[in-house]
Amino acid sequence: MNAGDHDATVRRSFNQQTSLFTGDDAVFARRGPATLSWLAPLHPNMIVLDVACGAGHVAELAAPYVRQVAAVDVTPALLRLAADRLRAAGITNVLLQEGNASRLPFLDASFDLVVCRSALHHFPDPRQAVVEMARVVRPGGRVAVSDMVAPSPGIRGAFDALHRTLDPSHAGVLLHTELAELLRSAVGPLIRDEVSTPVTAPIDSMLTDAADRDAVLADLRDELAGGPATGFSPVIENGQIHVSFTAGVVQAVRKIA
Ligand SMILES: C[S@@+](CC[C@H](N)C(=O)[O-])C[C@H]1O[C@@H](n2cnc3c(N)ncnc32)[C@H](O)[C@@H]1O
Repeated sequence: MNAGDHDATVRRSFNQQTSLFTGDDAVFARRGPATLSWLAPLHPNMIVLDVACGAGHVAELAAPYVRQVAAVDVTPALLRLAADRLRAAGITNVLLQEGNASRLPFLDASFDLVVCRSALHHFPDPRQAVVEMARVVRPGGRVAVSDMVAPSPGIRGAFDALHRTLDPSHAGVLLHTELAELLRSAVGPLIRDEVSTPVTAPIDSMLTDAADRDAVLADLRDELAGGPATGFSPVIENGQIHVSFTAGVVQAVRKIA
């Protein structure tokens, strides 16, 4: 699939997933790391970019602590949701911009901090996106990325395949070590490098119109019955299938040339 086709798949898929971003209990409103600690330190003079911002949950959290946030995403439906949410919250220092992570619509060295949560696995070329993040952050500024990582090298193929059944715009996850190495090599020295505690949620909360619901449930039931591992770590809680994912949380400082 070429990059243009993949972008169209992303828009189509996220047009069908707006429920994941709507309401205080939305999957992405709750999504870990939910607090701002992974972006720390924030300062009142900072200019921040949120890459692949979705409905603007990270931008909304950071906005009160910095001067300005720019937030870019390729899916207009989510940017409209972000605009409505930010207006309702009375937040006036977030600028929303349609654009692509692989060619960010900003000049070199425009930001003090560039953040990207839960999105790298949607990019067909994650290195290109991180190189762009490094380009638009100023020397001495920081790039912070949090993204779901593969549970192990051996299970990555099955994990990605089931994620694509859940969401056709899923491109592929990195291992935590690969994510850390990507930021170190494309941005600069790491000042944070962690794996989050697993986030557990009912699979039903993730089954939007973008998903092949029957196929997802069949694979998870199969694993629960002793079939092949998916990497989703399914368990039954209160009669429902719950799944767990872990994120790599990495922050790098852009080298001063
Ligand atoms: C799982 S959502 C995460 C949204 C947000 N970062 C959050 O944590 O709430 C992934 C987002 O990546 C966006 N996206 C995917 N590919 C993109 C690209 N190439 N450029 C910009 N945004 C992209 C999608 O439109 C979607 O909003």
